[in-house]
Amino acid sequence: MGEVRALAERLQAPMIPADATSVADLETVFTESTQALGGKIDFVLHSIGMSPNVRKKRTYDDLDYDLLSKTLDISAVSFHKMLQVAKKQDAIAEGGSIVALTYVASQRTFFGYNDMADAKSLLESIARSFGYIYGREKGVRINTISQSPTLTTAGSGIKGMDHLMDFADKMSPLGNATADDCADYCVTLFSDLTRKVTMQNLFHDGGFSSMGMSLRAMNQYSKSFEEFKDESGKIVYG
Ligand SMILES: NC(=O)c1ccc[n+]([C@@H]2O[C@H](COP(=O)([O-])OP(=O)(O)OC[C@H]3O[C@@H](n4cnc5c(N)ncnc54)[C@H](O)[C@@H]3O)[C@@H](O)[C@H]2O)c1
Repeated sequence: MGEVRALAERLQAPMIPADATSVADLETVFTESTQALGGKIDFVLHSIGMSPNVRKKRTYDDLDYDLLSKTLDISAVSFHKMLQVAKKQDAIAEGGSIVALTYVASQRTFFGYNDMADAKSLLESIARSFGYIYGREKGVRINTISQSPTLTTAGSGIKGMDHLMDFADKMSPLGNATADDCADYCVTLFSDLTRKVTMQNLFHDGGFSSMGMSLRAMNQYSKSFEEFKDESGKIVYG
């Protein structure tokens, strides 16, 4: 809680701790939030992800299924729980906006992303399924933002994160989106200027998801094939 507490103090914002897998905790979050804000909530960000399988270094072909349930519960089902609690309490204002953060590994395979890929697929699906109901009944929109790899606690748990970030950066015409860029994009989705955007998975990745191969990535890759001479003068390939 250290950093979050410091931020809350700086912003003079109340902090309400909750385990996102606990419906009771989420009920408290929404009740206390509407009390603290003096009315309904305009926007919510779900920024939660964790895989105990990744933490325990279990590979995707050797998953522990109890841990897989925890990954899915923490990283995806918590989003459904949050939405369901909010809707039952009618805690979100008409036209409100809800965003969850996701990653492109939900749709395409990335080495080392492990069971988080399955969690992100489920998360994006929940955004669509709940987005239909919440939009139809309460005018509340739900979207996911698919962010570039970013060096954070969750990010650094991914195998070869620094190389993945470098690869993504070289592949993206605009380069990787930073955490601050991500915050800016969230703000646009919370604003009234995007009031007709819902049930979307929106890529915020400098163009990465539409690329096949870039010149910068190709140049880097080609370097590994450069020929050089070993100590005996024999030509070898790197
Ligand atoms: N870092 C990246 O490269 C990257 C890329 C795309 C998407 N994302 C997503 O962004 C979101 C935020 O991750 P991050 O990169 O800031 O890492 P992070 O580790 O800093 O954030 C994850 C957060 O989840 C919280 N959390 C874990 N279990 C919880 C639980 N049971 N109840 C409540 N909170 C819980 C942690 O306290 C932490 O604040 C995640 O959904 C992540 O998958 C990250």
